[in-house]
Amino acid sequence: MEIKKVGVMGCGAMGLGVAQVCAQAGIATIAVKATPGSTDKIWSGLEKSLAKMVERGKMTAEHRDSILSLLQLTNNERDVADCDLIIESIIEDLAIKKALFQRLENIVSPQTLLTTNTSTLSVTSLMAVCEQRDRVAGLHFFNPAPVMKLVEIIHAFETADGTISTLSDFCKKIKKDPVIVQDTTGFIVNRLLTPYILSAVRLLEMGTGTIADIDHAMKSGAGHPMGPFELADYIGLDVVEAMTLNIYQDMHQPHVAPPHTLTRLVQLGYLGRKTNKGFYNYSVKPPIQNPQLRHPVA
Ligand SMILES: NC(=O)c1ccc[n+]([C@@H]2O[C@H](COP(=O)([O-])OP(=O)(O)OC[C@H]3O[C@@H](n4cnc5c(N)ncnc54)[C@H](O)[C@@H]3O)[C@@H](O)[C@H]2O)c1
Repeated sequence: MEIKKVGVMGCGAMGLGVAQVCAQAGIATIAVKATPGSTDKIWSGLEKSLAKMVERGKMTAEHRDSILSLLQLTNNERDVADCDLIIESIIEDLAIKKALFQRLENIVSPQTLLTTNTSTLSVTSLMAVCEQRDRVAGLHFFNPAPVMKLVEIIHAFETADGTISTLSDFCKKIKKDPVIVQDTTGFIVNRLLTPYILSAVRLLEMGTGTIADIDHAMKSGAGHPMGPFELADYIGLDVVEAMTLNIYQDMHQPHVAPPHTLTRLVQLGYLGRKTNKGFYNYSVKPPIQNPQLRHPVA
């Protein structure tokens, strides 16, 4: 089966990035804004970021024009009716995702593949609310989607082998590097990465080092391109907290329980880069440690 049209549910950081990747590979793509409000701001943001790529010589003006001609934004989820593949990328909330999957089954054709970009939720539990389960799978992209090569293809309990091979071909067509993973909370990357970020927060709470020291140590000593706090702010602290809670619920081990500092930052609405403040304050250049974190809660 060839994927000729993709529907992306959600126009947040990941949804929009994934939609761009598909259109960049020459595939007609429609992205659905899942919360109320106009799509105009999202469209102008996308135009600006593509214009920057053209200015920097990373993309030709022709390629930019072709991406914009293949991409459509909408507020109406019924507009994905003629898509061959759905990539759900809305908020990391199981109940909200389940309700969407149930609605999607009544919108798309029986041949349409239904996938989720969840970071840590069980793909099998989303599959469980669907009538036709063999076409449900996970398609887990990484942030920023236009840059990161890996896509984890999640083989859930009743996913058909044919669904996996179509998704594998699709990933290659959009120039990604797929790995097939069985449905385990956190899959491969987040199962390893989340406890690492949480350990960094606990080191901070113990007073072992400052945010900048811990980030510097991991970049300079372990060769990581970003430190754990820079990475957490980039992912979004609400997403990190949701991943933590899902992994903790699955493993019940203290080292994956949410640390107070993370919980407090999310409660205060400091979600990282997307709100300009998280572990760092991004409203100043270069970013400095968030002053609220001078006295982390142990
Ligand atoms: N941030 C990452 O690094 C990353 C990487 C891979 C996968 N993901 C996953 O992608 C999905 C989206 O994450 P994101 O980083 O784009 O988050 P985001 O905060 O940038 O976007 C969230 C999206 O969910 C929508 N939304 C918010 N409340 C909603 C509601 N009540 N009902 C329906 N939609 C709602 C928003 O409109 C937005 O489109 C999540 O499942 C997340 O786990 C995130």
